Amino acid sequence: MVAPLPQQTQQDFKERGFSRRQIGRIALVLGAGSVMAGMPWHKSRADTLPVGGIYPPGSILLNGNEFWTGPFPSALPAGQKALLNGNRYLTGQERQALVESAAAYDHISPDLITPWPGSSDPLCRTVISFCSPTQGLVTCDPTYETVWGVAEWLQIPLAKVPLRADNGYKADVRAMLKANPNAGMYYICSPNNPTGTVTPLADIAWLARHIPPNAVLVVDEAYLHFCNAPSAVSLLGSCRNIIVLRTFSKLFGMAGLRLGLSIAHPALHEKMMRYDGIYQTTMLSVPAAVIGTDSLKDPAEVTKRRSETRKNRKTMQECLSHYGVRTIPSEANMLMADWRKSPDAITAAFAQNHVIIGRSWSIWPTCSRISVGSTDDVQVFCKAMESVASLL
Ligand SMILES: Cc1ncc(COP(=O)(O)O)c(C=O)c1O
Repeated sequence: MVAPLPQQTQQDFKERGFSRRQIGRIALVLGAGSVMAGMPWHKSRADTLPVGGIYPPGSILLNGNEFWTGPFPSALPAGQKALLNGNRYLTGQERQALVESAAAYDHISPDLITPWPGSSDPLCRTVISFCSPTQGLVTCDPTYETVWGVAEWLQIPLAKVPLRADNGYKADVRAMLKANPNAGMYYICSPNNPTGTVTPLADIAWLARHIPPNAVLVVDEAYLHFCNAPSAVSLLGSCRNIIVLRTFSKLFGMAGLRLGLSIAHPALHEKMMRYDGIYQTTMLSVPAAVIGTDSLKDPAEVTKRRSETRKNRKTMQECLSHYGVRTIPSEANMLMADWRKSPDAITAAFAQNHVIIGRSWSIWPTCSRISVGSTDDVQVFCKAMESVASLL
């Protein structure tokens, strides 16, 4: 059951050109923005969700870009203590400690940071806050699809700009602007899901300087910790229209705990909060907030996980290459493998070998995204490749 939006909020949407039907649909997005599974705008992700519920126990999950192990060991004592105090709601102190820890990690002002139960809610919310039936959404293709789903669900104009080999599979920011010079939101995922490719900061800055005055550029840095690329937060001083999103669901090993951050000028956050965002950001899971706080104080573990991922990714890439399967050079915990045929039988053959690989994007129907696993997972993957090879 989703509560109707307050009158004032409905009025705001009407003024931006949304119909009554679209406003009804917005209420559904806001009611469930932090819930991944089962929502209409996630229908294209049925192959990976619900994670954990449908695979035989013991399967090697290389389909959800999660980290292969849990939260940082250095953060667990505080997390365990928080679990024992789980009868209490989040207090201002825990939220503040998280914000300060995140600010120190990125050397920025705490005023720029808002925590969320994961980054899916702010991702959905940015589309609602900055797009409209007249100001659409522009993204790359392939890229992470949540924002597509919301735009399609709300019938907001959507332009997808293909990634190209001759551009190193980076976002072509000039083509993105040309695709819709009057959009309300431009979305760049860097490193990109599913290619793992990084868009240079200079290109991100160029786009931020050329989009319409009331538009935003959302830079989704869910996978930034896996590479050495600089963050778009360094642009916030000169580009006040950028919103950076982070999540603890990947390298920090906290997908099931639900924690994310948006980093932006307070005026943009205020716009995102118009639709009861305050509730989401003040009702975080206490263990998640506490574990996130301490994890950000442990940069050595970030470096360790990054180099383990890099090593395992290289082994997987070499194994695929050994069987003639081309991959795109990735800087994140995933590889896009081109089988040069439908992946259906290949995916099924992996599953028979207890390895669950990821999905395809319709623009590249012969490719599958495969997440990087632990050293043991990679061994099982390489062994499974021996059986899969007969299908190639
Ligand atoms: C690029 C990107 N952004 C955001 C998310 C959402 O993550 P969460 O809601 O777990 O923070 C994901 C998850 O796969 C992702 O790949």
